[in-house]
Amino acid sequence: MITFKNKTILITGGTGSFGKKFAEIVLKKHKPKKIIIFSRDELKQYLMKAQFKSNNKILRYFIGDVRDLDRLKLAMKDVNIVVHAAALKHVESGEYNPFEVIKTNVVGTQNVVDAIVSSQVEKAIFLSTDKAVSPINLYGASKLAAEKLFIAANNYSTKKFSVVKYGNVFNSRGSVVPTFIDQIKKKNKLLLTHKEMTRFNISLEEGVNFVIMGLDKMIGGETFIPIMDTIEIKDLIKILKPEHGFKEIGIKPGEKIHEELISKSDNSIKIQCKRYFIVCPSTITNKDKLIKKYLKMNGGRILNKTFSYNSSNLEKRLKISEIKQLIEKNY
Ligand SMILES: NC(=O)c1ccc[n+]([C@@H]2O[C@H](COP(=O)([O-])OP(=O)(O)OC[C@H]3O[C@@H](n4cnc5c(N)ncnc54)[C@H](OP(=O)(O)O)[C@@H]3O)[C@@H](O)[C@H]2O)c1
Repeated sequence: MITFKNKTILITGGTGSFGKKFAEIVLKKHKPKKIIIFSRDELKQYLMKAQFKSNNKILRYFIGDVRDLDRLKLAMKDVNIVVHAAALKHVESGEYNPFEVIKTNVVGTQNVVDAIVSSQVEKAIFLSTDKAVSPINLYGASKLAAEKLFIAANNYSTKKFSVVKYGNVFNSRGSVVPTFIDQIKKKNKLLLTHKEMTRFNISLEEGVNFVIMGLDKMIGGETFIPIMDTIEIKDLIKILKPEHGFKEIGIKPGEKIHEELISKSDNSIKIQCKRYFIVCPSTITNKDKLIKKYLKMNGGRILNKTFSYNSSNLEKRLKISEIKQLIEKNY
């Protein structure tokens, strides 16, 4: 089990949904020396400071933009571990402001890598998304490019760089459940894009614990993908029972009916462990070490080259009663 004792962790995007939950869990269960929150907006930092006021000796706030390499280098002084979560992640906005997404998600990620390479940092994890698999929108494409930048860094640096990739976070800003609940509260018709739609589902807490697990097990170069629950969007309608009914508006630009986490056309070596998959790109120099380690762990086994994993998968499909419980717990 990883220990953060005497370690300083920097999290880019530390004021976001993930960052705040990460800080809460690491402060409660691990004993870090310091957690540095790196983000742009002072109001979000001010509000976070108020929310975490009893921990303000351990939590430090750094205003900065991942587009600014010098600022990142300064922020990473004496840092041991980096979690790179900062991103522009709104799909529709990304289609209208493509170069802004590239500047933050792609150039910003290379800046994070460059700052790590020239610092004391030992290891770093990048948070990616199912939308980066066979991407059809710029957000997904930018996260795919950023994954490649992170993984490739293992070839020219002694620091360890890995990726964690998962699907929809149940109660994060902009995800489907809060969007539907908001429409119901405003007494609007619920706007459903496509009845057959399915999504992966993970809680913020599970996402954070998965990243912590990744930090513990990583040797650099691998992508960790949790084996996730899936939901059918039409089940949400059955549960939320919108007073004013719902309307099918058709699939939006950049949206998929089913999200993918492993594409059948990706012929990288994929290993299945007990609770997660490891994708091991052929472009990294330490891949034999990586494969050996994960085959030894948890009865890991190499998957068929054409193995694919998408949210239409029924193995972990949540029942209506289970989704109901999740909604009751979170809202
Ligand atoms: N939510 C999901 O369903 C989901 C699923 C899979 C993967 N992910 C990935 O998980 C990560 C975190 O997601 P989240 O839900 O926590 O997002 P979020 O709530 O939107 O938070 C994004 C964070 O990034 C910061 N940020 C944005 N642009 C920045 C920049 N140029 N420089 C520095 N900081 C910047 C924001 O703060 P400021 O605006 O103040 O800078 C904020 O702290 C993202 O990388 C996302 O792609 C999310």
